Amino acid sequence: MVRRFLSSHKSLITVFWIATFASLFIWQFGGVSTNLYSGFSLFWSSSSTTTTVFSGGFPKLRPVVFNLTDFGAVGDGVTINTEAFEKAIYKISKLAKKGGGQLNVPPGRWLTAPFNLTSYMTLFLSENAEILALQDEKYWSLLPPLPSYGYGREHHGPRYGSFIHGQNLRDVVVTGNNGSINGQGQTWWKKYRQKLLNHTRGPLAQIMWSSDIVFANITLRDSPFWTLHPYDCKNVTITNMTILAPVFEAPNTDGIDPDSCEDMLIENSYISVGDDGIAIKSGWDQYGTTYGKPSKNILIRNLIIRSMVSAGISIGSEMSGGVSNITVENILIWSSRRGVRIKTAPGRGGYVRDITFRNVTLDELRVGIVIKTDYNEHPDGGFNPQAFPILENINYTGIYGQGVRVPVRIQGSKEIPVKNVTFRDMSVGITYKKKHIFQCAYVEGRVIGTIFPAPCDNLDRYDEQERLVKQSDSQNATDIDYEI
Ligand SMILES: *[C@@H]1O[C@H](CO)[C@@H](O)[C@H](O)[C@H]1NC(C)=O
Ligand SMILES: *[C@@H]1O[C@H](CO)[C@@H](O)[C@H](O)[C@H]1NC(C)=O
Ligand SMILES: *[C@@H]1O[C@H](CO)[C@@H](O)[C@H](O)[C@H]1NC(C)=O
Ligand SMILES: *[C@@H]1O[C@H](CO)[C@@H](O)[C@H](O)[C@H]1NC(C)=O
Ligand SMILES: *[C@@H]1O[C@H](CO)[C@@H](O)[C@H](O)[C@H]1NC(C)=O
Ligand SMILES: *[C@@H]1O[C@H](CO)[C@@H](O)[C@H](O)[C@H]1NC(C)=O
Ligand SMILES: *[C@@H]1O[C@H](CO)[C@@H](O)[C@H](O)[C@H]1NC(C)=O
Ligand SMILES: *[C@@H]1O[C@H](CO)[C@@H](O)[C@H](O)[C@H]1NC(C)=O
Ligand SMILES: *[C@@H]1O[C@H](CO)[C@@H](O)[C@H](O)[C@H]1NC(C)=O
Ligand SMILES: *[C@@H]1O[C@H](CO)[C@@H](O)[C@H](O)[C@H]1NC(C)=O
Ligand SMILES: *[C@@H]1O[C@H](CO)[C@@H](O)[C@H](O)[C@H]1NC(C)=O
Ligand SMILES: *[C@@H]1O[C@H](CO)[C@@H](O)[C@H](O)[C@H]1NC(C)=O
Repeated sequence: MVRRFLSSHKSLITVFWIATFASLFIWQFGGVSTNLYSGFSLFWSSSSTTTTVFSGGFPKLRPVVFNLTDFGAVGDGVTINTEAFEKAIYKISKLAKKGGGQLNVPPGRWLTAPFNLTSYMTLFLSENAEILALQDEKYWSLLPPLPSYGYGREHHGPRYGSFIHGQNLRDVVVTGNNGSINGQGQTWWKKYRQKLLNHTRGPLAQIMWSSDIVFANITLRDSPFWTLHPYDCKNVTITNMTILAPVFEAPNTDGIDPDSCEDMLIENSYISVGDDGIAIKSGWDQYGTTYGKPSKNILIRNLIIRSMVSAGISIGSEMSGGVSNITVENILIWSSRRGVRIKTAPGRGGYVRDITFRNVTLDELRVGIVIKTDYNEHPDGGFNPQAFPILENINYTGIYGQGVRVPVRIQGSKEIPVKNVTFRDMSVGITYKKKHIFQCAYVEGRVIGTIFPAPCDNLDRYDEQERLVKQSDSQNATDIDYEI
């Protein structure tokens, strides 16, 4: 499996290697005499011997820089460093007018309770620096439920906050030289399965009502619950990240959950987790409708994702605030249960529209492209069963891959028909049989050019030049088979 993966993605891996080597080289070189982050040319800076802005391998990214050890922290994996983090961040919170502050976390294992970030701050994790979450839930404070969900996702009443948390912030950067933030979720997963928890588990990092947020160049692992959860945020960039959790028995460890967010970029990352790699959301039934904040203008590109129990990329099922203008491109999803999935249900209301999937490779999956309209899971009995979500303008262009059992399963319904779907340039190798593997129900749209496997009859057929070949007269025909 690994060898096959390597050989079939040689070029992608080559690009990663080149990027890694180039950056290591620049890193070393820059460490001598220059701040490569401020855009000086290497030539200029190598002839300068005066601008030493690196200190112990840390670039200077803010006017004032602190070392976690200045606040008495001990990186032995045992000492509790909550106070050191809080003191450092308190100091940075006083520097807003001066351009903010940077907190360097040196190599070591820094155990701490959950803590809050502040505005105009950069948290920089050096190589071999690991921030470790205390596992005992008594250290995790409770927060009110998210307004667009009405409840904690798992229990009524308050929910545990996140390990790394922030509310109403501006200009926050969490970065480093591939240091990591470790949620130590093992005890949470076990207690969840044994039903020992009385509140919804907390995410690894949750940033709420904030703007200009960057997560880059580090590893997030073993979250108790969803890993990275930007909630009602604007202008969020997530780049060059590694997000890991066991692919089995790490319940609900989604990689990234953009939730009622706009203007987001997620790129150049590797995600292998115990639930959806990415799940775009915008609130749950009547609570999401009332809150009324869509997720929109999100670009997702250049990712490798693995999700053995769920999907590479999902939209929904909580989407009651609406989801629109999402582009997903240059994605490899491998050894997963589902590829790209839109899920919703009567009662959600809202819409999913203007969604483009481009150049998506599906390797060794059970079901490739999924649209599901009966994902009936509701916060309480107060939802409006007549609130039917609208699903329209969904474009799949350049869908490739191999070893997929059911390449397409689009299951619209009488109440929630799927409208204006386009397939263009699709070739997915199949493992099973040739019949009933491009499954459709209540779907209107078209296929353009050559599509393999042969598309369902619900869709109109156009040739490469976009001339109509055959108009469908059976958009509502149903051929969904969960037995395959
Ligand atoms: C931070 O403190 C540690 C321990 O005192 C030291 O080894 C390291 O060089 C310091 N780093 C910076 C950037 O000052
Ligand atoms: C973090 O901030 C939230 C919102 O202000 C607050 O409720 C919570 O108690 C803070 N958590 C910690 C650990 O200080
Ligand atoms: C990605 O992050 C790693 C460290 O985690 C760094 O070495 C590399 O240069 C970064 N690559 C890019 C393209 O930023
Ligand atoms: C960063 O660390 C993770 C595991 O800690 C590793 O899988 C990944 O390859 C590393 N990334 C880089 C760019 O070195
Ligand atoms: C959950 O509640 C029960 C009953 O009140 C209590 O005994 C138990 O300690 C609580 N568990 C946790 C993890 O707080
Ligand atoms: C988005 O955030 C980044 C990082 O803080 C910032 O550089 C950029 O100016 C912001 N963009 C807008 C349009 O505000
Ligand atoms: C990530 O690392 C690359 C390569 O070192 C660097 O150019 C970039 O500025 C870093 N990004 C952030 C947000 O620190
Ligand atoms: C759609 O989202 C992209 C970012 O992916 C953005 O550049 C573009 O302006 C958005 N389009 C509209 C109509 O808002
Ligand atoms: C398509 O995506 C793959 C990654 O899955 C990437 O290697 C390739 O360069 C992309 N092709 C184009 C034309 O962008
Ligand atoms: C159908 O969807 C495409 C995007 O996939 C969009 O460009 C087009 O305008 C839509 N057509 C209608 C009639 O809404
Ligand atoms: C679908 O997306 C492809 C690639 O971006 C584009 O060429 C095509 O025009 C789109 N189709 C529709 C119907 O919008
Ligand atoms: C298919 O179902 C939709 C929505 O339920 C309905 O509006 C449409 O008239 C039906 N089309 C046919 C050909 O029966």
